[in-house]
Amino acid sequence: PEPMIITIDGPAGAGKSTVAKEISRRFGYFHLDSGALYRAIGYACSLKGADLNNLQEVISVAKSIKIELTEEGKVILNGRDVTWEIRKPEGGYLASQVARFKEIREVVVELLREMAKGKKIVIDGRDAGSYIFPEADLKIYLTATPEERAKRRYEELKKRGFNVSYEEVLKEVVERDERDRNRPFAPLVVPEGAIVIDTTGKSLETVISEISQLIKNGN
Ligand code: C5P
Repeated sequence: PEPMIITIDGPAGAGKSTVAKEISRRFGYFHLDSGALYRAIGYACSLKGADLNNLQEVISVAKSIKIELTEEGKVILNGRDVTWEIRKPEGGYLASQVARFKEIREVVVELLREMAKGKKIVIDGRDAGSYIFPEADLKIYLTATPEERAKRRYEELKKRGFNVSYEEVLKEVVERDERDRNRPFAPLVVPEGAIVIDTTGKSLETVISEISQLIKNGN
């Protein structure tokens, strides 16, 4: 049978969101972008001037906002479309700062499990297969060299008109991975039972077709 829950984890810039979106489109899954929730919380903290090192301030922001993920892949914060704003380079930094806190992760995980109820879902993130949905039917771990991941990020940002250098992007990606791998609660790991796909030098289409095979084979 087709899997009900597919998790895609991995480091920054491995192509998780792009792959998850395309798989959802082709197979009729709901795409849960878990990073978008951390990004939205980080963004709301910066709008409200909260101190990112102060757990109480971050919690009070997280509890006072409403975040929605739509079928079309939009991220709505308090009724406002913030899909693009939260993708800016500093959005990743803000997200990984708030994502260090266990209490924030618990709020997000609760929200994600609620959003997933009764749906066939593809969820991408850092702890989707290891912590949020350990019972998932198909677990993927997408990775690539830091240089390749930074290059993809850099090209995507340039295309969208952001003025950044490759070196800056590489540094941000490497630092964020460090923070995500080394936090004490639900860090980035290869989940037990996950299939590791190294996308270095592979086209999006190749990766999609590898995962499509896994889905069709019922894993
Ligand atoms: O996937 P994305 O780059 O949007 O994630 C932004 C940040 O949110 C990550 O670097 C990580 O710190 C955090 N995150 C997380 N757990 C997830 C998804 C994202 O900690 N499941």
